[in-house]
Amino acid sequence: MGLLEDKVVVVTGAGGGIGRGIALLLASEGASVVVNDLGASVHGEGASASAAGKVVDEIRAAGGNAVANGDSVASWESAQRIIGQALDTYGRIDGVVNNAGILRDRFFFKMDPDEWRAVIDVHLNGTFYMSRAAAPHLRAQQSGAYVHMTSTSGLIGGMGQANYAAAKMGIAGLSRSISIDMAQARVRSNCIAPFAFSRMIGAIPVKDEAQAARVETLKKMDPAMVAPLAVYLLTDAAADVTGQVFAVRANEIFLMSQSRPLRSVHRPEGWTPQSVADHAIPALRANFYGPDMSKDVFSWDPI
Ligand code: NAI
Repeated sequence: MGLLEDKVVVVTGAGGGIGRGIALLLASEGASVVVNDLGASVHGEGASASAAGKVVDEIRAAGGNAVANGDSVASWESAQRIIGQALDTYGRIDGVVNNAGILRDRFFFKMDPDEWRAVIDVHLNGTFYMSRAAAPHLRAQQSGAYVHMTSTSGLIGGMGQANYAAAKMGIAGLSRSISIDMAQARVRSNCIAPFAFSRMIGAIPVKDEAQAARVETLKKMDPAMVAPLAVYLLTDAAADVTGQVFAVRANEIFLMSQSRPLRSVHRPEGWTPQSVADHAIPALRANFYGPDMSKDVFSWDPI
């Protein structure tokens, strides 16, 4: 018996990379899977039904249940159709993995509104549309789980990725809010910040030596390594796990749940700009979120 027997899960952007790995592992654990993928380029251009279809063929060849969907997550109507396909085909929906994504990298000072909007539309708006489309069904059945892909690019910042970082940090906030608003319905929401060598990472323009070194490190990470945590988060065994941000870096899983007071300073008489400069900032500076943070996360060898 698989861990997800009788469950129905939609995985977006599952025609390749991390999403494909999640869809295959879900099916091998007994879930019926809606394999969604627009089949677009890494920049979000074009569409091809074959991406999702190939993964469905792989799942069926291994004896699993899956159907393909070639809609875009980036509109309210098409998100409704994707969830609708799960309901029409399998009669229920238990989980949504918001994994679809594109990149339009450009330094912030050169980024145009179309580059901003395209990335926000797929990642942040797409995650909202998909999650919202499933919400009434999950609430009615009083169970279900969301897994959303966020990124260290958002959690700690990424060069040339203002659009993507904003979307990914937005997804982390959205996930926490979903975990709060849906807690009474026993519906859970968690994020994963993955590390994996995929088509998307291969497309990032390398801007400096540090980034080139990161890409070399990522090449050692198979996208399939992200799947076990994602699949676990969709099982009933994760019933008390919600509102968290995990990272998966090869065989390592670590917690990146954010936003707790790191350190505080207090003055009974209140503050002036000068006393902030003299007392507050020196005390808080040790915990600043600086370039060292990204060094901690990236200067690491998975082997
Ligand atoms: P990928 O490019 O291999 O997969 C993304 C998939 O999304 C593609 O198959 C693409 O066709 C599909 N897609 C794009 N726009 C779509 C739309 N509007 N509707 C439906 N499908 C659409 O990339 P990868 O690496 O597998 O990324 C998966 C997720 O993980 C993304 O959300 C990405 O931002 C995130 N991520 C990946 C990291 C990595 O190290 N690979 C790092 C941090 C986050």
